Amino acid sequence: MKSFPKLQGKAILSPMEGVTDVAFRELCRRYGAALTYTEFVNSTAIVRKSKKSLDKIKTSKIEKPVAVQLFGNSIKNIIEAAKFCETKFDIIDINCGCPAWKVIQTGAGSAMLNNPEKIKEIISQLSDSVKIPITLKIRKGMNEENINAVEIAKIAEKSGASAIAVHGRTQKQGYSGKADWEIIKKVKQAVKIPVIGNGDVFTPEDFKKRLDESGVDYILIARGALGNPYIFKQINDYLLTGRYDSKDKIGQLNEYIELALKHKILFRQIKTHAVSFTKGLQGGSELRKEINLTKSLDELKVLLTSFRKI
Ligand SMILES: Cc1cc2nc3c(=O)[nH]c(=O)nc-3n(C[C@H](O)[C@H](O)[C@H](O)COP(=O)(O)O)c2cc1C
Repeated sequence: MKSFPKLQGKAILSPMEGVTDVAFRELCRRYGAALTYTEFVNSTAIVRKSKKSLDKIKTSKIEKPVAVQLFGNSIKNIIEAAKFCETKFDIIDINCGCPAWKVIQTGAGSAMLNNPEKIKEIISQLSDSVKIPITLKIRKGMNEENINAVEIAKIAEKSGASAIAVHGRTQKQGYSGKADWEIIKKVKQAVKIPVIGNGDVFTPEDFKKRLDESGVDYILIARGALGNPYIFKQINDYLLTGRYDSKDKIGQLNEYIELALKHKILFRQIKTHAVSFTKGLQGGSELRKEINLTKSLDELKVLLTSFRKI
């Protein structure tokens, strides 16, 4: 088993489809994310060198360490994709948590929680095939009647996983209800590899409470970082000093746009991000409508400048 890298902080950017592109990851890193993940990428599409998938695994020299998250049901393709990625990334993460039908109908994502034997095969064969650490991200189980996060964590550890991330919801829950941090704590107590907790951490106060109560090694932040990558600085400051400040959302968005240009991110992706940065702003809902109408980056920039002047 390869050891999980020693990270410079406790807060990690969680993988998010359509969100954790290279520019967003670089911004989160700038604000202190200890590790970042790509969105989940179809391993078979990487093997086939699909342009869309190759775009998703673009990296920047500034973001280190960075994990690539793969999903798929073919062990052969997962291994081939992992080998293709291992020179650019520091960690290969396997998605065993996605509840989307398009993914689980193929036996991938959270459907793998039903098949611990397959998880064992994937992790052990991958560990033998690549030189960098292998991790996995799971949910607590398929449904309330089948909670098996502890069992999966033990299997993963035995098979050579370097760390495990647990989202405290079942596949059936999707995003409803609350994340169950008791099960995350049980996973932490059951294995020796680092455990990364995940679910419903939106503020530095949430972060500290969950860290203290569960004893996990790290915490993944997803929705809390959407439109507010500065949350990583807030968390790090709060853990160190008990205080934190805020940063203007449009200022953060402008930083994202600058990085997005550097990394040639598509305009429609920039627009999606722009919308999320306006959540919670006074006049935000009007601004979002106008953002949706923009047709070019120049138009978007003019709109943001005039909004800032109001
Ligand atoms: C827009 C969006 C996209 C997501 N995409 C992924 C993904 O590609 N891979 C993954 O493992 N989880 C994905 N997730 C789940 C998050 O990583 C995380 O597990 C979940 O949102 C719970 O964390 P939170 O409460 O901090 O949001 C996604 C979540 C959101 C909101």
